[in-house]
Amino acid sequence: MAAYEYETHEYDVVVVGAGGAGLRATLGMAEQGLRTACVTKVFPTRSHTVAAQGGIAASLGNMGPDSWQWHMYDTVKGSDWLGDTDAMEYLAREAPKAVYELEHYGVPFSRTEEGKIYQRPFGGHTTEFGEGPPVQRTCAAADRTGHAILHTLYGQSLKQKAEFFIEYFAIDLIMSEDGTCQGVLCWKLDDGTLHLFSAKMTVLATGGYGRAYFSATSAHTCTGDGGGMVARAGLPLQDMEFVQFHPTGIYGAGCLITEGARGEGGYLTNSEGERFMERYAPTYKDLASRDVVSRCMTLEIREGRGVGKDSDHIHLNLSHLPPETLALRLPGISESARIFAGVDVTKEPVPVLPTVHYNMGGIPTNYWGEVLAPSDGKDDNVAPGLMAVGEAGCASVHGANRLGSNSLIDLVVFGRAAAIRAGEIVDPSTRVPEPNMRSVEMALARFDGLRHARGQVATAELRLEMQKTMQDDAAVFRTSETLAQGKDKMEDIAGKLSDVAVTDNTLIWNSDLMETLELANLMPNAVATVVAAEARKESRGAHAHEDFPDRDDENWRKHSLTWFRGDAMKADLGYRGVHVNPLTSHNDGGIDLKKIAPKARVY
Ligand code: FUM
Repeated sequence: MAAYEYETHEYDVVVVGAGGAGLRATLGMAEQGLRTACVTKVFPTRSHTVAAQGGIAASLGNMGPDSWQWHMYDTVKGSDWLGDTDAMEYLAREAPKAVYELEHYGVPFSRTEEGKIYQRPFGGHTTEFGEGPPVQRTCAAADRTGHAILHTLYGQSLKQKAEFFIEYFAIDLIMSEDGTCQGVLCWKLDDGTLHLFSAKMTVLATGGYGRAYFSATSAHTCTGDGGGMVARAGLPLQDMEFVQFHPTGIYGAGCLITEGARGEGGYLTNSEGERFMERYAPTYKDLASRDVVSRCMTLEIREGRGVGKDSDHIHLNLSHLPPETLALRLPGISESARIFAGVDVTKEPVPVLPTVHYNMGGIPTNYWGEVLAPSDGKDDNVAPGLMAVGEAGCASVHGANRLGSNSLIDLVVFGRAAAIRAGEIVDPSTRVPEPNMRSVEMALARFDGLRHARGQVATAELRLEMQKTMQDDAAVFRTSETLAQGKDKMEDIAGKLSDVAVTDNTLIWNSDLMETLELANLMPNAVATVVAAEARKESRGAHAHEDFPDRDDENWRKHSLTWFRGDAMKADLGYRGVHVNPLTSHNDGGIDLKKIAPKARVY
């Protein structure tokens, strides 16, 4: 192995990733006087949160009656009863505070006539514990809400003197022999130097792994880097079988058309011009939850009622909306439809198709963002020194299916919670522990091994093979046959990582090496997805198993855990129980447990 020198840095906290969750955590840590570094592979305001369109859910009640208990109920039902009840309560209860904080930090929300934050309807958000009409709960900054939040949080973090290390790629976690996280080793992309960040707390805010699939609304940077590092550190990934397909990705291009489009009155039609959602979800129609709408669209196409010359997609109609509404509330998607589908939304429908959008699964955490390391029957053991927030983490508030606009609120509520918790457990007066040199050496050796990999398979070729397999075999609908095939194929594809070829071994702006490191991170995420999906013999949320079409609470109301031990790409499966108790009792204003007891999920 080549000899590597590296620069050392010591902080109270190092946050990896500068999307909404990473920046909210960074800001909260720095506000409390913790010395905080934020390491990010892209410029903060280019993180994938910038692409979040429709909005952020919080029961502000600006447009009509709402309550955090209703929001919690909708989240429990949306999760198909797989979310952790304590975490879901925390999310719904803290959401209004977190949104008003954003407002005070300067997020330029759209406004009502009275100057309040504008809120729009989104799928699965209702009133009266699912008995009333849809609620306007999703706070929006036109259809560029993520963009507005990201810019504001970055500015505020700089104001609090958080230090940013931009275009640094995190290679691996540094772990002590007793399993405490001590920081992260990074590669600075623009000058090729290596950097060891030692910290008392490391926060992974690295986003999802949408790019394990061929067609995704996620940025090309969404490569599951946190999940990859955690898997290599011997910690599990949770609920990876639950992958969300957003109903309205632009046909062909895959870019997102916000659910806010349906919130503002848009609707889907098939080749007969029929508003087919009325048949499947008579009450909430186009505003049923995403897994439901994606399945209905897929069924329409399967049954020959798709639109277009190959009858392989669906129409999203917006042209009946007043042009002022489109210009004021949906300017971004009007532009995307023009650029990526050649469609003028004031005149023509947008061609759309369910597209991979979000990973419900990720690194298991409690509702403070502390990473769980279940062992010896202790499901809620914490891995010291390590947190995960945002799409990288799995708290788990989304369970088997996330409601639209519950992602942005997850980012800020749990980014904020991680900061509150770090304020309690990180002591700024103590010294940063010496790093475990064996762990540093292992990280360097892996980096060097990939840098000099001279196998037979090009990175791009292997990535495409993985993406096509995931797209075909871990899709909206799954069967025992496709899942078994997907599992075998993915284990085989992942095995080929040891035969990968990196043609450029320089260290400055080496995109070949960076993409190979990203592929090595995507691989355990992808394998965990098919392995956990193949094992789950029921249908729940986004996991629609055609051979087991019903939800089976007796046997399967449990979180899957996937470990990669020994042979890096062979997954071991385990399970942990769902937290069924809320934080607040009904007598103290909490939700009535009877309201959230499992039942059939209809919209
Ligand atoms: O449709 C959207 O605007 C996406 C929102 C979300 O995923 O939460």
